Parts: sequence; C-alpha cells; structure tokens
Amino acid sequence: MQVNDVTKLEIEGGIGVITVNSPPVNAFSAPVRQGVASALEQALANEAVKAIVLICEGRTFFAGADISEFGKPVIEPSLRDMQAMIEAASKPVVAAIHGTALGGGLETALVCHYRMAVPSARLGLPEVNLGLLPGAGGTQRLPRVVGVEKALELMTSGRQINAKEGLATGLLDELADEGALRKDAVAFAQRIAAEGKPLVKVRDRSEKLDEARANSSVFADFRKANARKFRGFKAPENIIRSVENTLSLPFDEGMVQERALFNELMADSQSAALRHVFFAERTAAKVPDIGKDVDILPIEKVAVIGAGTMGGGIAMNFANAGIPVVLVETTQEALERGLKVIRKNYETTASKGKMKLEDVERRMALLQPSLTMADVADADLVIEAVFENLDVKREVFAKLDAVAKPGAILATNTSYLDIDDIAAATACPESVIGLHFFSPANVMKLLEIVRTKDTAKPIVATAGKLAKTIGKIGVTVGNGFGFVGNRILAARNAQSDQLVLEGATPEQVDKALYDFGFPMGHFQMRDLVGLDVGWNRETTSSANVREILNEMGRHGQKTGGGYYDYDEKRRHTPSPVALKVIEDFAAKQGIARREIGEQEILDRILYAMVNEGAKILEEGIAARASDIDIVWVTGYGFPKYRGGPMFWADLQGVPQVLQKLKTLEQAHGDAFTPSPLIERLAAEGKSFGEA
Ligand code: 3HC
Ligand code: NAI
Repeated sequence: MQVNDVTKLEIEGGIGVITVNSPPVNAFSAPVRQGVASALEQALANEAVKAIVLICEGRTFFAGADISEFGKPVIEPSLRDMQAMIEAASKPVVAAIHGTALGGGLETALVCHYRMAVPSARLGLPEVNLGLLPGAGGTQRLPRVVGVEKALELMTSGRQINAKEGLATGLLDELADEGALRKDAVAFAQRIAAEGKPLVKVRDRSEKLDEARANSSVFADFRKANARKFRGFKAPENIIRSVENTLSLPFDEGMVQERALFNELMADSQSAALRHVFFAERTAAKVPDIGKDVDILPIEKVAVIGAGTMGGGIAMNFANAGIPVVLVETTQEALERGLKVIRKNYETTASKGKMKLEDVERRMALLQPSLTMADVADADLVIEAVFENLDVKREVFAKLDAVAKPGAILATNTSYLDIDDIAAATACPESVIGLHFFSPANVMKLLEIVRTKDTAKPIVATAGKLAKTIGKIGVTVGNGFGFVGNRILAARNAQSDQLVLEGATPEQVDKALYDFGFPMGHFQMRDLVGLDVGWNRETTSSANVREILNEMGRHGQKTGGGYYDYDEKRRHTPSPVALKVIEDFAAKQGIARREIGEQEILDRILYAMVNEGAKILEEGIAARASDIDIVWVTGYGFPKYRGGPMFWADLQGVPQVLQKLKTLEQAHGDAFTPSPLIERLAAEGKSFGEA
C-alpha cells in the first residue's frame, strides 16, 4: 500500500515492511519523515503486524537529514519526533541497511530495536564534515553502543565503517546476504516476534558508559591527541562536550544539551561554509555546457611522459585505479629514478598497513617503463609532465601528434603555460586539454581540468569522469595564466613579498595566514617546496629577495636555510640573514620599512585574492564562484571552515568588499583596483554566489 509519494507499507508473513524510495539518497526530507511516521502508525494499528522492517529502495539506506532543508522552518514531524515514535513503538522495529547509513540515517537505525545490514553496507556519522554534530541522538546513543572512545573517534572524523566492523562493535545485530536484504530482514523480524525478543532501546543501555567512567582522562587525552587535527574547527569540541554529557546527565537531559550544542553549530558561519563546500564540490562536477548527452570516451590505457616529481605521482593514480600506464622518459637513469620513487611510496603505504604487499607488486606491474615515445601508440590518454618550458613541451606534443592513436586525448600538466600554444604544435588542438595535478599528485585531491578554446566537449566530459575514477575532485576551468589556482596564488605571493619589503617579517606574514587557518604560511611553504623551483642559475640577476637568497645558496629547508633557518630536524627559527637581505633589498628599492599589523597583512592578502578571483570569474576562466572556492580549499589549504575565498568574501558582503578594495587601492595601488564585476554585483545587490 502506498502511504505517500515516497513511502509504502506492505504486510508480508506478519511483518510490516516500510519501504522508502526518495532518490537520489533517501535523505530525510519532510515527505520521507511524514511517510515513515504514518506507515509506522498504520503498522502499529494493524493486528496482523507482529514486527516491522524499515528499509530503503534505490542506491542507499537514509543518507541523513536533508541538508537542503537546513536553515528553513521545520515541517512536522521533525526527525527527532519521528525517531521517538519508532523507539517507543510497541512492536519491534528492524532497520535493514544497504548502501550508506549516514548521519540522521544511522541515528534512525539507532532508535530501531534491531539493526541488520548487507556486507557491503557502510555506516557513519559524517555531520562533522558539515560543521555539525549528530543532532538526532547520535552523540547520546552511539557511545552507549560502541563505547565512548570509539564514538568520539567516529563522530569527530566522520569516518565510515563497513558492516563487518559494525557487527564487531555491536552497531549491527546481524548481517544479511548480499542482495537478499529484504528477505533476510523479514525472516529476522519474524524470528524476533516469534521468540518474543525484547524491544531493545539503546537509550537504556549503560554498560559501555560505566566502562568509560573508569577511565577519567579519556576526554582530556582525546582532546590532546587531536589538537592539531581539530585546530580551528568548532564542531569536534561540541561533539566531545556532548559525549561528555552521556556520563554526567540522564539520557533526556543529554538530548536537550545535544540540541543546544547542535543549534550553536548550525548558527555558526563554519557550518554554512562547510555545507557550501559540500554542495560546491558536487556542483563543480557539472560543467554548464556539457550535458549528459556528450559522449564519454573509454580510457583503458594511459601514457605519462616524464617520470619526475609530477609524472610519477600522476602515473600512480592510474595504477591505483587498475589502469595500465606507459611511463616514458628520456634516459634509463631518469626512468629508474622515477620508478624507484613510486615503489618507495607504495612500500611506505604498505609498511603502515594501509596496503597489502602483493598490491604493491600488482600496481608496479601496471607500469610499463619506456624510453620510446612510440610506445604511447595504444594509449587512450597521454599526459605530458616534462619540464615547464614551452619549447620542450611543444616538441613533445609534435611527437605525440605523430605517434598517438587518432582520437587519443593529449593532456598537459603545465602549471602556467598557455595550452593553446602547446596545442598549436599538433594537428588536433581539439584533442588537447590541461590536466593540472597538484603535488604530491598521488595524494592531492584537486584536478584542474583546463579546456582551451578548441578542446572538444567529449574530451572535457571524459576528463570529468576520469577525475572521479581516480578519486579526484575535478574542476573545469578556462585557459589563462595560472588558470584559477596559481593565478590567485600569484596575487597572494605578490602581496606577501611586498609586505615583507614594507616592514613585516616572514614570521609575521606566516603567522597571520596560519592563524587564519592555512596549514602553513607563505614563506614556510616556499622554503618547503624549495626556493630554487623555477629559479635559473644562468639568468639570475638579484632582481628580488628570492633570487638573492638562491644566489646565496639558501634554497629553503633542504639547504638548512631560506626565508628561515633550519636545524637538523628541519625545525625553523627566524633568520637574521634573510631579514638582512630583505632590509637591504628594501633600502635599494627606496622602500621605507614600517610596523605592519596582522590585520593589514590579512586584509592585503585576502582582498587581493578575492579581487583576482572576481577577475577570473568575469573573464569566464571559472564558471562559478564556488568552483574557485573548491580549487582553493582542495588544492591550496584555504581553511575549509571558511568555505573558500569567494564564500569568505560573500560573508563580508560584496559592498563591504568593494569599499575595502577602494581603501586599499588608495594606500597600495593597482592590485586593489576593484574588478568591474565587484562594482556591478554591489550595484545589483548580488553576491559572488549569485554572479
Ligand atoms: N541531503 C540533501 N541532499 C543530499 C544529501 C543530503 N543528506 N546527501 C546527498 N545529497 C545529494 C547531493 O547533493 C547530490 O545531489 P545532485 O545530484 O543534485 O548533485 C545527490 O544527493 C547525490 O549525492 P552524491 O553525488 O554525493 O552521490 P554519491 O553516491 O557519490 O554519495 C552519499 C552518496 C555517500 C550519500 C553522499 O552523498 C554523502 O556523503 N551525503 C552526505 C551524507 C551526510 O552528510 N549526512 C549527514 C547529514 S546531516 C544530518 O544528518 C544531521 C542530523 O544529525 C540531525
Ligand atoms: P621534474 O623536473 O621533476 O620532472 C620532469 C621530468 O620530465 C624529468 O624526469 C625529465 O627527465 C623528464 N623529461 C624531460 N623532457 C622529456 C621528454 N622529452 N620526454 C620524456 N621525459 C622528459 O618536473 P615536475 O616538477 O614533475 O614538473 C613537470 C610538470 O608539471 C611541469 O610542467 C610543472 O610546471 C608541472 N607541475 C609541477 C608541480 C610541482 O609541484 N612540481 C605542480 C603542478 C604542475
């Protein structure tokens, strides 16, 4: 019987089966909550029903609260009301889980009296990723089932566990056969009813809490162990506090406090920012002019040209996905060096227990080393990762044009070069695209997919699909200096360099960025990467501080000094030598040094970045402000809880951004001349998100 558009109730062998089908992920929207509540009422009122199964159709069990309803008035019944009905039901309710039981989905499973899942199911409370805590009883019930420590770990990481772990921790009562969930759940419910098993309420369980009471330092230890990981994020602390309440408050009071701690997070801009990132990540996958009708090309074999820092990491992505890769180098020595680094990476992963030793060999076997360009002939995709030099790249592409199979995708990993210029070396510019990976390429999630004026749509669509296949977040951008990420980075660099000449120290600049939430400051980053990356010993002319430091042999961490000095453990201290270089260079430039405060440092860096982002948007290099945010959050360490530079700017308000830029322009010149887009948005009362 259909209860509403998304819910049905069927009676099968004395069991009331409530089935929800609300694509795509059965989130608890108002119709789902209403459907479950009325199906439950009907099942309870029906004497023929002895027990109830709650199950979903489609790809997954409930994936949680409906995030798109957040911030809007609650439509009855609330998730908690619906859950209270289930928990108080006079007949046993069994949650039958497939896909992912997440957030409010798992919290609802926790109010059911029994839980069963198929082996492929996954369970988790990922609210922390949205800047929230599990607010439908999760913080109160999970510790009662899996224990305090495990609950803290799961809720502050958002980690999903598989069904096997679910069974071992007591989160699940039974496993069903894969593909036979409904049948097995009905049989399980029949057994419970026949044997008169109790209506187990997690809220009444206390044995795991008693265990935790015996270990008085559990919370302090957990906070200490995770201080670095949680830095800047508010949700983990509220989760910990709410779990602390399980030991000191009765269940119902713990629930009241959970609600208060949840509401506090919901009202905070961090959660708004993290929710923005959640949706922005998914929006980025949709390229405005590329519909579902555009063909996706099969990628069964890949070739990577150049086995250096980037080429090796890029090749690993495909080997990890089971796709064979030809790795082409110019010399045997370079090839061997590249392969050695890859093997070492895999072996390190294996030594940490994160990969099996036989998988190291399996992945290495997918790599076919070669010194012959002609070996790319059967690759569907060729990615060039040779030196950042236009002539070298053009030569490589001219060769590829001759040896690659017709229709193969020809990609470049260039950081800054004009991809049209590279494509012009081929007779098929429509097959050429930028696939801009980030270092380390086997780790970093971001992939800038750079389309040129000629790139054919199927090539763009295939690159988007490929990003998913190798576990990356692909953001499609246009071809222009530095694309999105490095162009904004250049704006940040310019201000950072200027600030130290005008009087700030590298430590001051780095501290401001670190305190804002970046994992490290600008100068620390440069020292880590190496000041000599992109520096040319032949042409260097003491034209800036960086060149001078390089000329002095100060290439960063690896040489014991750059902008900072380093000890043998690579711990940094302010460098009097570097400061002297800065002061002398400023004097030579006629720049009078002055005291510079943290606010000025942040303002100049952040507003220069936002202004550059606005220009990128205006020029169509990025399709949307949220794409710029995703590039900076996933590729450059912009604090996720601030949502990215454009979301941050929207929180300030576009008129305020405009005003600030005008003030900065007067004091510091052209870099701050507001982009016309900002003027227009301010006049129209629109945000960057609406641009
Ligand atoms: N609410 C609203 N929409 C959601 C949603 C949710 N909880 N979860 C996913 N969606 C939407 C996505 O935005 C996407 O929409 P689109 O097709 O229009 O872009 C669509 O569902 C499919 O999502 P994915 O592309 O992510 O699909 P996948 O199959 O790759 O992943 C998933 C499925 C694992 C369920 C993943 O979507 C996910 O992790 N979702 C979020 C789960 C979550 O955070 N739950 C907690 C919610 S907060 C909560 O429950 C509060 C409670 O404690 C009170
Ligand atoms: P690298 O110097 O570590 O590696 C380049 C490799 O290419 C060398 O091993 C070299 O022997 C090989 N090579 C040169 N000419 C070749 C040819 N004709 N055929 C085959 N192999 C050839 O350089 P890296 O850092 O890996 O950079 C490669 C590209 O990736 C550059 O375009 C760079 O701008 C870009 N990039 C670099 C990032 C980084 O952080 N290192 C980040 C993102 C992009």
